[in-house]
Amino acid sequence: MVNYLYLAKLGKDGVTALLVLNNLAKRLPGDPQRWLFRDASLNIVPADFVAIMGESGVGKSTLLNIIAGLDRPDAGHMTFRGQPLDTLDDDMRTLLRRRHMGFIFQAFHLIPQLTVEENIALPWRLNALPRREMIQRVNMLSKRLGISERLAAWPRELSGGEMQRVAVARAVVHHPSLILADEPTGSLDAESAETVLSLLREAGEAEGAAIVLVTHSATAAGRAQRRLHFDAQGFHPL
Ligand SMILES: Nc1ncnc2c1ncn2[C@@H]1O[C@H](COP(=O)(O)OP(=O)(O)OP(=O)(O)O)[C@@H](O)[C@H]1O
Ligand SMILES: [Mg+2]
Repeated sequence: MVNYLYLAKLGKDGVTALLVLNNLAKRLPGDPQRWLFRDASLNIVPADFVAIMGESGVGKSTLLNIIAGLDRPDAGHMTFRGQPLDTLDDDMRTLLRRRHMGFIFQAFHLIPQLTVEENIALPWRLNALPRREMIQRVNMLSKRLGISERLAAWPRELSGGEMQRVAVARAVVHHPSLILADEPTGSLDAESAETVLSLLREAGEAEGAAIVLVTHSATAAGRAQRRLHFDAQGFHPL
């Protein structure tokens, strides 16, 4: 049974940090004797824009999955909106993610049975936000991202760059307070990449959303307020 009253109280305790990672560690999937990473500690405040860089395979996507509650750490603690995440059951974590987070997955993860428009609108509908404003919001985002002509298409009919822009629109549509963006410009030309980065920055500046951007692109990282290197020993300022 989901405790909605408890969920409604989140964030009303005056805590300024949006997300706190405290010595998170994860064992290597497939070889649990070894650590993938240890001692990952990070404070994210509202409107933060942090770029995380690091070698392929160090665990950046794994870390984002842990933050989103899609994976669990093997050690350490996390709080989101003042709430210790390890005390929440899966239903609560799903609700928290659905309402407060937007996730741009590295592999997009669009829903193949839904059109582009339905994919973008999904977080809005899952949160039962007002339908009339949903249409305006989807139209604005798709126009901005140059995919308004593709709203009726199916994901399988899209180019990689189009899929990525749909994933970006879906991640921001419901005004999340935390946007987790895993290499969100990796499939895009320079102009589209710039549009995506501007959109993310605006979500921070206009709505106070915090952005955690994982990227191999120095240009993309340059748009963040701060840059961190991630490796097996955690975060280091760049
Ligand atoms: N389900 C899994 N089973 C086995 N190994 C896995 C699994 N998922 C991830 N790994 C391994 O965990 C490590 C971290 O993967 P992860 O995808 O988090 O890296 P990354 O830093 O995001 O890399 P990239 O920059 O290439 O996206 C890699 O060595 C990967 O092979
Ligand atoms: Mg990755």
